[in-house]
Amino acid sequence: MHDDVSNRSQRRAGVTALGAYAPERIVTNQDLEAMMDTSDEWITTRTGIKRRHLAADDEFTSDLAFRAVENLLARHGDDALAGVDMVIVATHTPDALFPATAALVQDRFKLAAGAFDLLAACPGWLYALGIAKGLVESGQCRKVLAIGAEALTKIVDWTDRSTAVLFGDGAGAVVVEAVPEPYGLRSVVLGADGSGAQHLHKRAVGRCLPNGDPLAETLYMNGREVFKFAVRVMNTATIEALEKAGLHSDDIRLFVPHQANLRIIEAARERLELPRERVVVTVDEYGNNSTASIPLALAKAVDTGRVQSGDHLLLVSFGAGLTWAASVLTWGPG
Ligand code: UT7
Repeated sequence: MHDDVSNRSQRRAGVTALGAYAPERIVTNQDLEAMMDTSDEWITTRTGIKRRHLAADDEFTSDLAFRAVENLLARHGDDALAGVDMVIVATHTPDALFPATAALVQDRFKLAAGAFDLLAACPGWLYALGIAKGLVESGQCRKVLAIGAEALTKIVDWTDRSTAVLFGDGAGAVVVEAVPEPYGLRSVVLGADGSGAQHLHKRAVGRCLPNGDPLAETLYMNGREVFKFAVRVMNTATIEALEKAGLHSDDIRLFVPHQANLRIIEAARERLELPRERVVVTVDEYGNNSTASIPLALAKAVDTGRVQSGDHLLLVSFGAGLTWAASVLTWGPG
């Protein structure tokens, strides 16, 4: 931990390094047709998903997180992690309830850092950015390594076609630290409504939810309810993030939403009145990677030259809780 009170009022946190990883094993919609009563046509038209990457049998969330950090180092050099004094891993598929997956990352890269996991479902990585912003801007930390990593396919019920076709595994990692004007995280909006807990859950050590619904042994989702919630909250959260940042949707160079369903992304795009070329879509390639979906999509956008220094990016996510998060990030420097 690091507490430097000088320049605290001017300090704004931003993203200075990025890495991502998707496992090698690919499962296509055609592969799923051979495994269950589904079709490429249904999956494509209802979700936009064509394939997903699955962790190997002996590959778990910590392994995916390590790979994303290694990718960050390959892109930005060994110095990128110098001075990292906090590691946050956003996940709801940790290797263990404890120790935190973040502690395994700390040890793997020999960082002189605190470490904790963060559970806020799919928006968890945006929650991690919000926490990192607070830690950096208050002077508590110099650099935060914020990771979203998921091995979701380990907890889906492979006999339930309504959820099994949707998810994939992967990880993304960023370094958050103070950046000069005009870069950085201009706004972060975090929200939750636990009255919708029954729509998306999986048991850990409890038996049931406060409303009496038994907790599911594998991932349970009421897709229709989550869909309605997602469309509503993507709209309200993005408007709030834009207002907090003092920007309009016209100012947004790229919209990078949570990749759960192409129809949800399209509904959000239409409400924001953004042209299609301003939206990053990776759900076809990766399916829903939960906390890893936005950093994986960002990495794709960077790799295809769609993000330049100074661009305003609008990020938004939703998930179990129910929770949501949105942020306006001005990309750069560099
Ligand atoms: O990360 C955040 C969490 N997740 C989400 O964001 C998911 C949000 N929800 C969704 O994306 C959509 O609700 C789903 C993709 C999950 C489902 O799409 P839908 O258009 O809402 O379909 P539905 O649940 O209303 O089901 C329609 C039909 C049903 O058959 P009947 O009852 O009409 O005969 C299902 O049994 O589609 C059937 N169905 C399937 N058919 C073929 C459900 N899953 C499948 C499947 N293949 N994989």
